[in-house]
Amino acid sequence: MTSTHPATRAARAGTHTRPGGAPPLVPALHQTTVHAYPDLASLHRVLDGEDHGNVYYRFGHHNGHVLEEAVADLEGAADAVSTASGMAALTGIVTALVETGGHVVADRNAYGGTRSLLETDLPRLGIDVTLVDGTDLADVARALTSRTRLLLVEALTNPTMRVPDLPALARIAAAAGVTFAVDSTFATPALLRPLEHGADLVWHSIPKYLGGHSAAMGGIVAGRADLVGRIRQSVVHVGATLGPFDAWMALLGLKTLPLRMRAHTRGATAVAGFLAGHPAVTRVHHPGRPDHPHAEVVTRLFPGGTGGMLSFELAGGRPAVDELIRRLGPAIPLSPSLADVATTLVHPATTTHRSLPPEDLEVLGITDGLVRLSVGIEEPADVVAELGSALA
Ligand SMILES: Cc1ncc(COP(=O)(O)O)c(C=O)c1O
Repeated sequence: MTSTHPATRAARAGTHTRPGGAPPLVPALHQTTVHAYPDLASLHRVLDGEDHGNVYYRFGHHNGHVLEEAVADLEGAADAVSTASGMAALTGIVTALVETGGHVVADRNAYGGTRSLLETDLPRLGIDVTLVDGTDLADVARALTSRTRLLLVEALTNPTMRVPDLPALARIAAAAGVTFAVDSTFATPALLRPLEHGADLVWHSIPKYLGGHSAAMGGIVAGRADLVGRIRQSVVHVGATLGPFDAWMALLGLKTLPLRMRAHTRGATAVAGFLAGHPAVTRVHHPGRPDHPHAEVVTRLFPGGTGGMLSFELAGGRPAVDELIRRLGPAIPLSPSLADVATTLVHPATTTHRSLPPEDLEVLGITDGLVRLSVGIEEPADVVAELGSALA
């Protein structure tokens, strides 16, 4: 081997080394797009599913599988598939489970990107979409037809924190033979496991709470093995595979998820209480408030709290939001994502939901004065004090 040219040795460096000794405590990062096989038979056994192994990145890889096993375990799912982003997860669900001529029913109180995919892309593929109020069971039941393949809701909606009754929706979907998929990005399996409440699938945007540190991109879908198998195939076909490094980082984040969700819940509860009593604030949307419109569902589904998300309306409208953002930065920055360990905020009307026309924003209660706050894991009194002086 050592008699070969340095260029040859450089090109082959590491390819045939075997890890020795005890396994690493943190799973190794397999940042490779392909694996090397000694002969055709062993490659074919893996391709045919007879042997365990990985072949080519897009088909799935070690770090993706480690993350998938961990999330499936937390969600109580038979299987999970990781994807390049949350939107790739939704694309995988739809392309795997809905055919041209099919129909999707979705809560209109969903993330703006979800709405864009549903309202812009699916109709072009010949898939009809009906938007409903996911908290109005009669509205949902009315919308289902013999062509309906999917019912989609968010466990906690973005940004007005509505809380659909998952067990009731699951019963309606099951009676109609419709797959029920829940975006649980805001809730996480630390607080809610939608599959235990009758959902067929649960999916997440990883850069939010699962990753937790605004560093790893990705998405993941967990649920029944037959459904996840079909979604995995679609994800491989469209090439929406999660990268190994993002999967590796997401796993590190996942390890502290329950701990973080307790701290996020504690912070958001304190901040919501403070904002509810502030004269500059006309409305607070937080599922933990006793005056929340779905308080009974919250008590039933979220015994351990509802996490760090809340939104509130400023009496002074957009100019007041602008002023608040200037005063809060850089301690609490305007940052168009959520679920970081540090507190951040967005103006949904002009960021997450900017693709929606004004009449849709009005129906959703996304006013010009609405601020969405993602409360981090800092000491709650500090966040309250910062908000207090900025609002003064
Ligand atoms: C609730 C929710 N679902 C899905 C998504 C989409 O995920 P991603 O940005 O990872 O594609 C987002 C993104 O902000 C979100 O907030």
